[in-house]
Amino acid sequence: MIKRLIPLILITLFLAGIAAVVAIAAYWYYVEADPLQPIAFNHRLHVKTVGLKCDHCHRYADRSIHAGIPAMGRCVECHRNVAVERPEVKKLMDYWNRKQPVPWGQVHVSEWHVRFTHRRHIQADVDCRVCHGYVEQMATARKVRTFHMGFCITCHRANGGQDDCLVCHK
Ligand code: HEC
Ligand code: HEC
Ligand code: HEC
Ligand code: HEC
Ligand code: HEC
Repeated sequence: MIKRLIPLILITLFLAGIAAVVAIAAYWYYVEADPLQPIAFNHRLHVKTVGLKCDHCHRYADRSIHAGIPAMGRCVECHRNVAVERPEVKKLMDYWNRKQPVPWGQVHVSEWHVRFTHRRHIQADVDCRVCHGYVEQMATARKVRTFHMGFCITCHRANGGQDDCLVCHK
């Protein structure tokens, strides 16, 4: 009896192993890894060289849940005329001419049960760098940390933010 079950057990373990690997890979791909972006946008260049402020593009940080990814019109207001010969700008203008939004990959993906809003933090003068690191040194944005609960709560307790579960969870 036991002998006959052995292949079944092995197969079950094998499938469980595969499922675990797939789950870990999917977690890495969707949650931890930075996405490959369709255009090599460069934050350093636009913030340091061109001199743009974060909220020139991420317009809603001080008034909304989301900081917002800029619509293409924001880029085209310059790139209709600026650096048009660069290959990566050509890609941008191709999307524009096809009337297709640039399919930017999402860098930060929150757990579904977490409630977060930019507005309250920006209004409380929390700097973007506290949570996102030195984006002005990056090309496309990278994630500098996973937002674990301890990271959020430690600051809330130290700075008069609330630590009630339902402030951050739905
Ligand atoms: C207190 C931490 C914190 C601060 C400060 C902060 N962010 Fe965020 N940011 C987050 C979290 C958490 C997410 C993921 C939110 C989600 O998945 O809904 C995020 C997501 C984003 C995104 C992705 C899309 C979106 O709109 O949600 C952008 C862009 C962004 N932040 C820009 C900024 C900029 C620019 C600033 C400064 C003006 C800033 N953030 C300040 C925590 C922060
Ligand atoms: C205020 C004007 C302005 C806006 C808005 C702007 N750019 Fe640029 N961008 C520039 C300038 C100026 C350069 C060339 C800088 C240099 O190389 O000296 C540039 C360069 C580039 C390049 C070429 C980089 C390289 O290394 O060849 C790309 C790609 C680019 N921008 C994409 C974008 C995208 C995408 C947006 C919108 C999210 C955007 N830009 C918004 C002014 C702007
Ligand atoms: C010229 C427009 C422009 C400016 C200025 C700009 N960004 Fe961005 N930002 C973008 C674009 C386009 C993306 C999407 C591509 C990427 O992830 O890099 C992005 C992505 C991000 C993300 C990741 C969003 C996500 O998917 O989770 C963060 C965080 C961010 N920017 C923060 C900043 C901060 C902080 C500043 C100021 C220091 C800044 N940005 C200035 C255009 C801009
Ligand atoms: C650097 C400090 C700091 C960090 C890090 C931080 N917060 Fe906050 N947060 C605050 C402060 C301060 C307030 C209160 C602002 C106010 O009272 O207007 C606040 C307010 C909030 C609110 C609004 C509460 C309300 O009454 O509407 C939410 C939701 C929130 N934080 C969630 C988060 C989450 C989720 C994280 C982690 C991803 C986080 N915070 C990280 C400082 C921080
Ligand atoms: C200041 C914001 C904040 C508060 C307050 C908060 N949480 Fe969380 N919590 C988070 C964030 C952000 C995550 C997601 C962590 C991650 O993705 O690693 C999380 C994750 C969790 C998880 C999933 C397991 C884990 O650790 O990832 C549980 C369970 C949880 N919280 C329970 C609670 C309970 C119970 C309370 C009240 C005692 C509470 N939380 C208060 C922000 C908060």
